[in-house]
Amino acid sequence: MSLSNLEIVARYLAAPGKGILAADESTGTIGKRLEKMGLKNDEETRRSYRELLLTSAIGGSISGVILFKETLYQSTESGKTFVKCLVDQGVYPGIKVDEGLQPLEGGLEGETWTKGLENLAAMCAEYAKVGAKFAKWRATIKIQPGGPSEKAILQNADELAQYAKICQGAGLVPIVEPEILIDGDHTIGRSQEVTEKVLAATMAALWRHGVQLEACLLKPQMVLPGAECSDPKPSAEDIAKHTLTALRRTIPPALPGVMFLSGGQTEEEATVNLDAINRMARTTEPGCPWSLSFSFGRALQHSVLKFWSSDQSKGLDVQQLLMSLARANGLASRGQYTG
Ligand code: 13P
Repeated sequence: MSLSNLEIVARYLAAPGKGILAADESTGTIGKRLEKMGLKNDEETRRSYRELLLTSAIGGSISGVILFKETLYQSTESGKTFVKCLVDQGVYPGIKVDEGLQPLEGGLEGETWTKGLENLAAMCAEYAKVGAKFAKWRATIKIQPGGPSEKAILQNADELAQYAKICQGAGLVPIVEPEILIDGDHTIGRSQEVTEKVLAATMAALWRHGVQLEACLLKPQMVLPGAECSDPKPSAEDIAKHTLTALRRTIPPALPGVMFLSGGQTEEEATVNLDAINRMARTTEPGCPWSLSFSFGRALQHSVLKFWSSDQSKGLDVQQLLMSLARANGLASRGQYTG
């Protein structure tokens, strides 16, 4: 059976030993991070920071980079487009296509839906023309007493599936991101329960909308306790066990890759936990049919941005730091990270 182009791209993105760099912070989000480091949030600062990321030799451990719209159309100082910088080293450019979170009417306090479905088909076609190969859409779910509500779970699942269907129609592989937020005092057990519910609803919606799972990737959070949970901190093995149980109960083998986000974890925690997940996936029944890798934003960029903001003349050293973080996570995606 021959594979479609979209299936080939999805498998490439989830190839063993490689993962995704999420560098798609919106202007507001990157602005907060730049300003925290004492930098201005203007177009040139964003461009030159991203030039540093996208011209690093990351191709050995990074299969794709998610870009924000502005970045997709930008170039290096010497005039080479960022898209070409990536493609030249075998890295696929991707694009964040959602337009951010909105309060969910009729939902519980703090619940959201994600904007961006109007006009999405035309936007995706345009991005594909410029060279994007895949897309990302983030929905968030909040755990709280009595929540998440059914409405939040079902609406976000349905909108993720609508987005995924539109992307596939426009020739982009969709990354489906139903992120359960770390805010709150819930236990890891509660987090697993909600993760199962949300992933099951998301998979059902993908099926209902006719999304081809073989050409789609999932970007969930690892199963962690809430940031304010008073239980002792779980070990990486506990996190791996809860995460794998939730995935094994809900994700069909047709899906090629599960690419975790890193929010709420330090760089080292995210890597160690990804490594533990992969070790356990290999050594416990019934194994795992999907590749388990990363689509990290903060866990690949936090110390990189900090270093760059402290001394912009050290570009090459900053790039080395990004490359070593990417390598560490590439190893973790094979269960071979040794610290
Ligand atoms: P973090 O890894 O920083 O959670 O972000 C990844 C991302 O793309 C969120 O949408």
